[in-house]
Amino acid sequence: MNAPSPAIDKYLDENGQRFEEELCQLLRIESVSAVAAHKADIQRAAEWVLGQFKTLGFACEVIATAGHPIVFAQSPTVAGAATVLVYGHYDVQPPDPLNEWISPPFEPTVRDGNLYARGSTDDKGQMFTHVKSAEAWIRTAGRLPVNLKYLIEGEEEVGSANLEKFVDKNRQRLACDIIVISDTSQFAPGQPAITYGLKGIAYFELRLAGPSQDLHSGVFGGAVANPANALVRMIAALINERGQIQVPGFYDDVAPVAQAEREQMRKLGFDDADFMRQLGVEALAGEEGFTTLERRWARPTCDINGLTSGYQGEGSKTVLPARASAKFSFRLVPNQDPAKIEASLRGMLAKLCPPGIKMDLVAYHGTPAVVVPLDSPYMAAASRAIEKGFGKKPVFIREGGSIPVVSTFHEKLGVDTLLLGWGQNDDNTHSPNEKFCLADFHRGIKASAHLWEELSAIRA
Ligand code: BES
Ligand code: ZN
Repeated sequence: MNAPSPAIDKYLDENGQRFEEELCQLLRIESVSAVAAHKADIQRAAEWVLGQFKTLGFACEVIATAGHPIVFAQSPTVAGAATVLVYGHYDVQPPDPLNEWISPPFEPTVRDGNLYARGSTDDKGQMFTHVKSAEAWIRTAGRLPVNLKYLIEGEEEVGSANLEKFVDKNRQRLACDIIVISDTSQFAPGQPAITYGLKGIAYFELRLAGPSQDLHSGVFGGAVANPANALVRMIAALINERGQIQVPGFYDDVAPVAQAEREQMRKLGFDDADFMRQLGVEALAGEEGFTTLERRWARPTCDINGLTSGYQGEGSKTVLPARASAKFSFRLVPNQDPAKIEASLRGMLAKLCPPGIKMDLVAYHGTPAVVVPLDSPYMAAASRAIEKGFGKKPVFIREGGSIPVVSTFHEKLGVDTLLLGWGQNDDNTHSPNEKFCLADFHRGIKASAHLWEELSAIRA
């Protein structure tokens, strides 16, 4: 089928501003999946996404789960054409710390060609490009060149706990030739990318309890175990001064970075000095013997995500806190198993926990890393589509973030995913002042419109 390319381009030009306004409607909904008080907002976001598919005449529904609902939609059948499953998420991370936002997180605001709002790039804006590209085809050609299915969930930012079961139970409904996700980044401004690897994750909270209530640190300190002291010792033991993780057996299954791949990464021309300037740091840190890109993309890491104990109010207070806790996570690389790491971590922390302290280790979520094959016709099709949308051939990169469903799709459906990110590294995902470049939003829609055509040609 011939792409009505001039007609699509014209449609995208004429409707671009409306697309932005519609995206802003979705961005105003505070669909924070981690916070129970936002349950109604989550539902509203799901219904809003559903409304988009209804307008397109797709078969669609909001499906309740034990957690947040899933939106599923399907375009009218195009006999003989390939079937593409688009995944995205309408949930967002908490906007904290609120006072660091220049404009409020749920009041989308344009500055310097960027749309600022929580979820603008991760993932509402990126996900929406694949809805608007479908709209452009339907309103110009009257039909799509491929069969499209959409699975838009509301629990990605909290580990997609209920999605695995849904995918497992709905294999037939989700059957497809290829999966497309836009929830990653380009390599740099002006340099689009296809991501062929994502890290896995294993996320924990260590809770320590000492005396039954807070105590005077002068009267009792030094004679009673202090949970905050114990916590920092235990957590500090996780990584050594060479940036190596000390959980027993942690590196046993790590797939080494092949020399050829290291060379590929080196050729991308990553600039450490630029990176440091962007982040406002005077030095970089990490595992000894690896470059910044290797550390970020292909080596496992450990980061504390939150620390809580004792007095955090104004001024000083001499207290021996009764409790202390830390949230921390490991980013995993291919062949590491989150369950194995949890078991080893438990053993290690139990040994480190001093007398007088009770410990509880909560495992929140775990997902393995993924690497997708580079030599498929789908990759080639995606590369051509991106070149048409962005005016430049994409480079192939790995990234350090995780999208739990990618490994689930591979395992349950036996289908690979194309990770076509329209974001930028400085989009402030999960941080204050998250943004999405509006030009990238429109280029993403265009690339997506071309993608449907490119993919239709693969299986007839
Ligand atoms: N969009 C991100 C993942 C991402 C970000 C991939 C940047 C590549 C580059 C996604 O929404 C995300 O943040 N996922 C979580 C998953 C976790 C909660 C299981 C993550 O990586 O922290
Ligand atoms: Zn995301």
